[in-house]
Amino acid sequence: MGHAEPQAAVSLQPFWMPFSPNKEFKAEPRMFVRAEGMYFYTPDNRAVIDASSGLFCVAAGHCRREIAEAVYRQLQTLDFTAPFLRAHPKAFELAQRVSEFTPEGMNRVFFVNSGSEAVDTAMKMALMYHRVRGQSQRQMFVSRERAYHGVNMGGVALAGMVNNRRAFGTGLPGVYHMRHTAIPENRMVRGQPEHGADLADDLLRFCQLYGGENIAACFVEPIAGSYGCLPPPKGYLDRLRKICDDNGILLVFDEVITGWGRTGSAFGAQTFGVTPDLMTMAKAITNGSQPMGAVVARQPVYDAIMEGGPKMGIEFFHGYTYSAHPASCAAGLAMMDIFRDEKLIERSAALTPYFLDTMHAMADAPGVIDIRSCGLMAGIEVAAVGAPGARGHELQKKLYDIGLNLKNTGDTLIVAPPLVAEKQHVDEIADKIRRALTA
Ligand SMILES: Cc1ncc(COP(=O)(O)O)c(C=O)c1O
Repeated sequence: MGHAEPQAAVSLQPFWMPFSPNKEFKAEPRMFVRAEGMYFYTPDNRAVIDASSGLFCVAAGHCRREIAEAVYRQLQTLDFTAPFLRAHPKAFELAQRVSEFTPEGMNRVFFVNSGSEAVDTAMKMALMYHRVRGQSQRQMFVSRERAYHGVNMGGVALAGMVNNRRAFGTGLPGVYHMRHTAIPENRMVRGQPEHGADLADDLLRFCQLYGGENIAACFVEPIAGSYGCLPPPKGYLDRLRKICDDNGILLVFDEVITGWGRTGSAFGAQTFGVTPDLMTMAKAITNGSQPMGAVVARQPVYDAIMEGGPKMGIEFFHGYTYSAHPASCAAGLAMMDIFRDEKLIERSAALTPYFLDTMHAMADAPGVIDIRSCGLMAGIEVAAVGAPGARGHELQKKLYDIGLNLKNTGDTLIVAPPLVAEKQHVDEIADKIRRALTA
């Protein structure tokens, strides 16, 4: 029903699709050919509401003219310059604008091209920081079960989702995983659960077992997003912060999903009142329109690397050809204007109560076994039918067919609409999910 027909002239075979069942998709493709505001459009011009902001990227709604024009102008003015030994003004300007949104003291911005690159960059920064301070024995990392930290080898080693790890060997040595916080007491909780802060003590156990002085950094998503929205138990992040401080470990928040307004503040760090040492971001920094990510460091981390490295020459041997690409910076600057002028973060906070009421009202829909939520994000988990994840996969296809796009992980549907959503969009999302669950 309503599938894009493969076009006769274009074979679907050469394109190897990422994170997709290629054979199934190519037999029954579900495509989009354009988008505007809250909606995608299929080849047969059906509107499909975007309930996952593309992939948590499109905070300001699709096809923003301001961003498109800024990129167009930039590509006609300065299309590329090497980011090593050369630079362009917009890179500095964007770093300044980004640091106006990050928590106080987090003000040194390293640009990359994706969330995965941001994670691996943050791992290297942590190693470098300890090395220049004479602590190069700190080589271990701690992360968490059910975490997603992208797909580069560092991020895969940190990851806590089995399918993203199992085919790729043993990962890095010295990466240890805390338990996740999806304990039974936290089912059907709206916002931060009361239970589970003590799970942060897993980090303390690792300090006691391996020596806290050997651990470089602890990585967590403030809300585990890709797994299906696991908000942090009350007090959990504070406890991680304290254990890190007591043991000289850097705390890294992976804010690739939680950043840029998703939780009602600019970053999860502000929503949850805990400031990390490094934070990663990507996705909504350009509204998803250009590939871009960043790592933001607390100034002392940057200063240590600047002052502790060689007196002359390169302080940090790391960077990408497309770091701070002019077109991405132009898109980012246009997006910063939209955040400011349209008060997107305040809009997200204002819509949150209605969004949460509407999502949690689906608790009685057929098959729903859990709803977890925080800010403008909810994970709606349904009981498995057949193999784990099979039902979630069928649901996302059915939802496309009835006019709703979202990301599922296993049997959890992840709802995270653009921050420009109105109440009627939230209603439309809930109605369509209920229809799909009832069918
Ligand atoms: C928390 C987190 N980290 C890293 C990534 C990887 O980002 P990318 O797909 O841009 O490499 C994601 C992607 O969803 C993410 O959610």
